[in-house]
Amino acid sequence: MRKIYLSVILLVCMGTSLLKAQEQIPEVEELLKKMSLEEKIGQLNLLTPGGGVATGAVVSKNVEDKIKAGNVGGLFGVSGPEKIRMAQEYAVNDTRLGIPLLIGSDVIHGYKTTFPIPLGTASSWDMELIKESAKVAAKEATADGINWNFSPMVDIARDPRWGRIAEGAGEDPYLGSQIAKAMIQGYQGEDLTKPETMLATVKHFALYGASEAGRDYNTVDMSRLRMFNEYFPPYKAAIDAGVASVMSSFNDVDGIPASGNKWLLTDLLRDRWNFDGFVVSDYTSVNEMIAHGLGDLQAVSALALKAGLDMDMVGEGFLTTLGKSVKEGKVSEAEITIAARRILEAKYKLGLFEDPYRYLDNERPEKDILSKENRKLARKAASRSFVLLKKHKNTLPLAKNSKIALVGPLANNKNNMLGTWAPTGDPSLSIPILEGMKNVAPNAKIKYAKGANISNDTSFAKKVNVFGERISIDDRSPEALLKEAIEVAKTSDVIVAVVGEATEMSGEAASRTNIQIPDSQKKLIKEMVKTGKPVVLLLMSGRPLDISEEMGLPVSILQIWHPGVEAGNAVADVIFGDYNPSGKLTATWPRNVGQIPIYYSVKTTGRPAPTPAFAKFKSNYLDAPNSPLIPFGHGLSYTSFEYSDIKASQDTLQVDSSIEISAKVTNTGDYDGEEVVQLYIHDKVRSVTPPVKELKGFKKISLKKGETQTVTFTITPEDLKFYNSQLEHVYESGEFEFFIDGTSDSDFDGSFELVE
Ligand code: BGC
Repeated sequence: MRKIYLSVILLVCMGTSLLKAQEQIPEVEELLKKMSLEEKIGQLNLLTPGGGVATGAVVSKNVEDKIKAGNVGGLFGVSGPEKIRMAQEYAVNDTRLGIPLLIGSDVIHGYKTTFPIPLGTASSWDMELIKESAKVAAKEATADGINWNFSPMVDIARDPRWGRIAEGAGEDPYLGSQIAKAMIQGYQGEDLTKPETMLATVKHFALYGASEAGRDYNTVDMSRLRMFNEYFPPYKAAIDAGVASVMSSFNDVDGIPASGNKWLLTDLLRDRWNFDGFVVSDYTSVNEMIAHGLGDLQAVSALALKAGLDMDMVGEGFLTTLGKSVKEGKVSEAEITIAARRILEAKYKLGLFEDPYRYLDNERPEKDILSKENRKLARKAASRSFVLLKKHKNTLPLAKNSKIALVGPLANNKNNMLGTWAPTGDPSLSIPILEGMKNVAPNAKIKYAKGANISNDTSFAKKVNVFGERISIDDRSPEALLKEAIEVAKTSDVIVAVVGEATEMSGEAASRTNIQIPDSQKKLIKEMVKTGKPVVLLLMSGRPLDISEEMGLPVSILQIWHPGVEAGNAVADVIFGDYNPSGKLTATWPRNVGQIPIYYSVKTTGRPAPTPAFAKFKSNYLDAPNSPLIPFGHGLSYTSFEYSDIKASQDTLQVDSSIEISAKVTNTGDYDGEEVVQLYIHDKVRSVTPPVKELKGFKKISLKKGETQTVTFTITPEDLKFYNSQLEHVYESGEFEFFIDGTSDSDFDGSFELVE
């Protein structure tokens, strides 16, 4: 082991804490003084030996040599204490200064214990559960040697064509901010030097979810007002929660790709928001600025560094051109020092200088990964993520001794349970729906028939099957599959059809212009309905779908997303009534793709559409209403809830005080249940056009049948702030309307006046 590394250890005091970059860390400063320009540049590169998912055109080569040459600051796509120890030893023993590596990974919804896709977990509206899930993910990932997570993804998404809507929390800035905070607390904990915590990364900064036409990596062009009011809050919440790193996005913002955008990475992030961690690019997003049209590799690398980007993911533009740019006076050594300092500070925060092998305990994987408790939490998270979109008669919950026809290409299919961006998960460990139903209801008489292929389109299947066989086209003809399902259905009491999207039909580079259930499966659903038996659709998808046709059928619909490793067990818990569904949508479901982008928090326009009728010269469509198919915040339960006595504690709110808005919620149905009580507020008059309503609070409560609870929200003027046209965060006096309900689609219950 190198001597200088040892001297660094001696300098490092015990009990490191999250120090602000402004308050320089003496140990890091000492180290920087010893570093040559090349060694500093070396810290700015994040490479991958190729074990993970290569989402760009480039994969790193000769990684071992590059580490030994001091050209690498961090690695990702490598896991397990043994392999990581080897890499860490190259860095520690074979380089002059022995600086350890950051070890990154995409732990997006669980590590090996895969949780539901984030859009699903968000639908639980349960911040404690989300935090716990993140904590388990961190525990498992760190057990495998990883110390830096490329999560949470907090991009607001209002366009379900965009496949990556699956990876985030949906459309709402307030809810998205709460979820961002919960995830960061779960990953980073209170003390980053603890071996069960890891650095979190908020991504993709910024506005990636607003890619034009929902096509991945596409242009974004947006007013600053909208950025600040609608898209920035979750990133800002992450910074305020102390997130350690930020990942820049692929898209351009105001004509400059995020990875080279100084306004974004320095003026906003550092100067306005006081971010003190480091910024990493997305996969080759520095190099991609060449394709964006901003110059050659040297030019775009210099642009990125000067904009405030600290670490270059895979592209090696920093590694291969920054030295030259310094010589030519295009970049200063001081600018490189700033970036290197931020990387070293992150390593210091993790306690890596004290012990580069702190995450490498050979005993931990066996003990901490895929433990019983972890799987139990994944099962709980999955059941809480499901959203009962439609109830038909009292088909659900099913009796545990029913005669069930289980049909659909996703009913007995391990390959599609985990969902997108679960590269560390193992599909073979997942519980398919059929197995889960047998586990939970061993006395049920279940007959299974596939009934249809996910899609009959072989060229579509080929595009979806990039990471394994997600769409398998059966040797039997579509007619034969259908016939078998009809026969099975005829002998049953009830039909459960598991339909929807394969894993890779959403996620990165999985945008769709048609967001309906594929035709092959639509046909199966219709045939099942024709049998006259009660039908339950278990709908699996990574995005809001256009299910206008299915909503019109006499069926019950439970949205189950991609539920993760415990899929089948969680589904069975819910359909057999061991858990009463309580999820609520966090993204609006459209009637058709023509309504997209679609979200609840719209503005009235100067010509508000009359409802329900169409009117000429008003802001409406000739061929569809403005209203969505299913609104944000919607989700049913086996029981029913009634809201009453909704009121504010006073008529006026003084600037230095608060007001209480409350509702009585009663469980009026036949089951115990949970309800997400939501508060929406409408600022009636202000200097920039207000949205018709905005979520300002929510509480998830549990009510026994017949029970009533009063739910109270405390609102202060701070909660009523928005960004005005000078981009100042202000409130303005005047009237505010409010309502409390279990959905965003409701009428106002009252109002109060904010007086200055
Ligand atoms: C994705 C990121 C991810 C990175 C590394 C990129 O393609 O956009 O979200 O963290 O790959 O795997």
